Amino acid sequence: MNTSSLPRIAVLATGGTIAGQAGDASKTAGYKAGVVGVDKLLDAVPALGNVARIHAEQIASIDSKDMCAALWTTLSRRIDALLAQDDIDGVVVTHGTDTLEETAYLLHLTVKSAKPVVLTAAMRPSTALSADGPLNLLNAVTVAASKDAAGKGVLVAFNNQIHSARDVTKTSTYAVDAFRSPETGALGFVQDGRVEFQRTVVRPHTAASEFAVTDAWPTVEIVASYADASRVTVDALVAAGVRGIVVAGTGNGSMHATLTHALADAVKKGVAVVRASRVGSGHVMRNGAASDDALGTVSAGTLNPYKARVLLMLALASGANDLQRIFDTY
Ligand code: SIN
Repeated sequence: MNTSSLPRIAVLATGGTIAGQAGDASKTAGYKAGVVGVDKLLDAVPALGNVARIHAEQIASIDSKDMCAALWTTLSRRIDALLAQDDIDGVVVTHGTDTLEETAYLLHLTVKSAKPVVLTAAMRPSTALSADGPLNLLNAVTVAASKDAAGKGVLVAFNNQIHSARDVTKTSTYAVDAFRSPETGALGFVQDGRVEFQRTVVRPHTAASEFAVTDAWPTVEIVASYADASRVTVDALVAAGVRGIVVAGTGNGSMHATLTHALADAVKKGVAVVRASRVGSGHVMRNGAASDDALGTVSAGTLNPYKARVLLMLALASGANDLQRIFDTY
């Protein structure tokens, strides 16, 4: 086989369970995430050589629960730099599953290239019986090497499905089909080298996005509404000087009355407040479960609280003040 004509894909490793190691192959919990290096991950998948020429970089070696905004900045800038090279056709990022959806959405809104960017991960550590990482990695590289994946924003290849970074979320603590796009479904599938898209991505992303990563991220926190919620957390956050608060509200982004009063006071002090839902699917309607007009709050639409936080951070970093337009657009 003449491999010199194969696409050249950069694999950027950040850690996660896909790079996890346990002392016992029967263990799928209680392992250490982010310890196996990218070269070893690639060596476990010889079939990659039939799909692409690989350029590998170890960007981080973390459990993705510890992902931070500074690393998002590094990752986004590195991806842009690689994709600006004529000899790189696409990027795959290996990541932990726990915050994959946040990183994916952040990259979806900040990477400025139409070349494919695909995140993947694993639910079982690399040492496990039936580890899912090797096939997920092969499938992610296959998607990144596909011309059909260009211009679709950042994608997530997991368990043979291809999802948009905007819509995908982790829905199980243990199952290998942990990732779903609740309202929209997967964009398509990848199996045995075949990549098929059945839907497209409508909202703006990558080069069409107005946002960029920064070295000075605004502080945005998440609070939840629940029975007997108090205003203690909101008041503490406002006193600490946060720029934004996302509420994981009940149902259609509704909030306990006590929390509503606290958040209305926060808005009066200049804090941006976005209403999302803790439910896991559906959307939060403007002026639906709360009068956003009266409170000065913004509805998150179909973004879950964690993705709404990403968008609010980007919006505040950009200096935008038309937040509802931004949430209605992205
Ligand atoms: C992590 O998110 O880094 C650990 C969990 C996982 O990857 O499944």
